[in-house]
Amino acid sequence: MSSLLFFMKTGVFDSGMGGLTILKALCNYTNDYDYLYLGDNGRTPYGTRSFETILKFTQEAVEYLFKQDCKVIIIACNTASAKALRTIQQKYLPQHYPDRRILGVIRPSTEQIADFSKTKRVAIWATPGTVKSESYLIEIGNFSPDCLVVQQACPMLVPLIENGELNNEACDYFIKKYWEQTDSQLDNIDTLLLACTHYSILYDQIKACLPSGIKIIEQGSLVGPSWKDYLSRHPEIETQLSRNQTKTFLTTDQVDNFNSLACMFLGYPVKAQKIEL
Ligand code: DGL
Repeated sequence: MSSLLFFMKTGVFDSGMGGLTILKALCNYTNDYDYLYLGDNGRTPYGTRSFETILKFTQEAVEYLFKQDCKVIIIACNTASAKALRTIQQKYLPQHYPDRRILGVIRPSTEQIADFSKTKRVAIWATPGTVKSESYLIEIGNFSPDCLVVQQACPMLVPLIENGELNNEACDYFIKKYWEQTDSQLDNIDTLLLACTHYSILYDQIKACLPSGIKIIEQGSLVGPSWKDYLSRHPEIETQLSRNQTKTFLTTDQVDNFNSLACMFLGYPVKAQKIEL
């Protein structure tokens, strides 16, 4: 009797463009797989929305990606990871898709971040939703109880990025303002984690605006290796993933905007398709 093997895709989801910084890192470490990216640009930003709304939007996106035959979905959004991931993993997944997997970006980041800090004083920049969830304080506290952590919400950065307003004075103004607010919370911070996937696109600009001794960590450098490691530890999942090196892009808003911003994020042209959630 012959058995039919059915290979499946890897979904990557974010509220908008930010998850592309994670997709790029995933491909740097594991380019062989077929990635299906979904940006909910029509409803971004998530960071200022309620728990219920973020859960509803994230669940709709997950449902969509599972219907497109994704075996695993990486929630490449801290806000959705903080507010919706656990509920979806614990309630929705076992009931509807028990053989599929959903991973987030907070765990790979919080496991490792204290190792970068000599002073054991780390700052987190994130959306208001992620800050309010206190997920970073709780998880870093679990992994590295000797590390002091301060959080700073940076609500203006995602709207600026989603509108293509980078490398300009408006962005500099907010970066400097958020750093002043961060620095006033705790002495001797030596490490800043960009805990919103959008912020990585501002890495050079943030570096130029901050004191030179501050180490700036973007999440792709943590999530990429962690995904590779996950695949090596889970052959039952890995062997079911298709490997044709394709990347497909879906957006809930206008494709022209998505395509031009995506090119800035990824460094190559893409042709997205518009979908409704
Ligand atoms: N990129 C997302 C994150 O990592 C959120 C952006 C937003 O929609 O506010 O938190």
